[in-house]
Formats: sequence, C-alpha cells, structure tokens
Amino acid sequence: MQGGVIPDRVYVLSGPPGSGKTTFGVQFLAYGASTGVPGLYVSLTRGAETTLENMSGYNLNIPALTGRDMLFFRDVKSVPDYADSGTSISPSTVYAEILDFVNMHSIKRLVIDSMSTLRFSVTDQTSKDMEIGRFIQNLSQLDCTTILISEMVDPSTYSAEQYACDGLVFFHNFMRGRSMTRAIQIIKMCGTVHDCEMRKLEFTADGLRVLGKIV
Ligand SMILES: Nc1ncnc2c1ncn2[C@@H]1O[C@H](COP(=O)(O)OP(=O)(O)OP(=O)(O)O)[C@@H](O)[C@H]1O
Ligand SMILES: [Mg+2]
Repeated sequence: MQGGVIPDRVYVLSGPPGSGKTTFGVQFLAYGASTGVPGLYVSLTRGAETTLENMSGYNLNIPALTGRDMLFFRDVKSVPDYADSGTSISPSTVYAEILDFVNMHSIKRLVIDSMSTLRFSVTDQTSKDMEIGRFIQNLSQLDCTTILISEMVDPSTYSAEQYACDGLVFFHNFMRGRSMTRAIQIIKMCGTVHDCEMRKLEFTADGLRVLGKIV
C-alpha cells in the first residue's frame, strides 16, 4: 500500500481459525497506543480477558499500555446467555455500547472481534445484511480507524461486511508442501494503490511479521 491505511475508515480482516486475525488487530492497537493513540479491543463473545492474557506474551508492552489507559480490552455481549432470556441484543445495542466507550476514552483505533458473532444478534434473516450494512455505516461515522474481524465462513462467497467496508484483507493458513503456511493478501483498499499478491506471514516474539511474496 502507499504508506498504510487511510485513517478513520472501516476495514475488514477475514481469515480461517488460527491464522492470526486477533494478533494482527491487537498489534495494530498496541502500535497506536505506544505512540499516544488510544485503542479499544471489543470482544463480542466473552473473551476480552482471555485475549488480553494471550496477547500479553508478545513484546508489545500490552500490560503497561492497559495500565496507562491507552489500550482497553472490553466485552460487549452480542449473544444473550441462557439466563438472559428476554434480553434484547442487536447490532444497534452493540454499537451504542461501543459508541459510549469510544467517546468516554477518546478512542482512535478500534478492533471488533468478531463480526460473525454479531450476525447471530440479528434474528430476522431477511434483514441480516441490511443490519450489518447499517452497523458499518455507523462505525464509519466514528472518528476511529476500525478493523472488523470476520471469520472466513465460505471462501467462495463474500459477506455483506466485505462489500460495505473501505478495505478488505484476507489471512490464509494452508498446506504447502508438507507444512502449513500463513499468508496475508489485500483484496481491496479504497483510495490507495496495492497489489493482490499473497505474502508470507510469520509469528515472532514481537507479533506478526510480513515476509516476501509467495511464488
Ligand atoms: N507467542 C504466541 N502466543 C500466542 N499465539 C501464538 C504465539 N506464537 C504463535 N502463535 C500462534 O497464534 C495462533 C493464534 O493466533 P490468533 O489468535 O491471532 O488467530 P485467529 O485468526 O484470531 O484465530 P481464531 O479464528 O481462532 O480467533 C495460535 O494458533 C498459534 O499458532
Ligand atoms: Mg481470534
């Protein structure tokens, strides 16, 4: 890309299990927070504490950044518990909670993990795509650079959020020869020049690192 993502837009990161989506999102937040840009990681399942624990092992200074209120990990419920019968959860209630937190802490980088869970909060199947579209439209009005993580459910079809977002990045995790290879690929990035090649992705003690093209 020509120097990185355009700020204040909404990007979608899609990939299979264990491909590094959460790591990428948290790394993006940690880099921002370490330069004075407050970041928020929103787990739509009840997993923010676990993610914080998992990611604290990397040399990203995460415990210090959370301690200084530069980086936040929060759960926002997108699916009611069995005990919560009658509780009304929808993309708009999820958005309202995020909006409150963003305003309260002047958040400028936002990661939402994951869209797939948000889908479950829309009970009316016919309005699912429209609701996801509205959610993204509202997010794009925030003064935040946002990464929406979405699991790659069916690689042969694109989901509503993949169309509605400003940029789309795929992570891959596939068999190559006798071992698994991880890769990153930019599918679209409105407003900037990019290629669509797959590049090798490697986990290091400092987080993810992008290597050369896969040929
Ligand atoms: N130091 C480390 N700490 C945690 N995970 C590591 C570390 N080094 C490598 N990994 C790899 O990171 C993978 C998980 O990455 P991550 O949670 O970012 O993936 P994900 O795409 O978000 O997965 P999911 O779809 O299950 O949420 C593990 O499967 C593991 O192979
Ligand atoms: Mg994850």
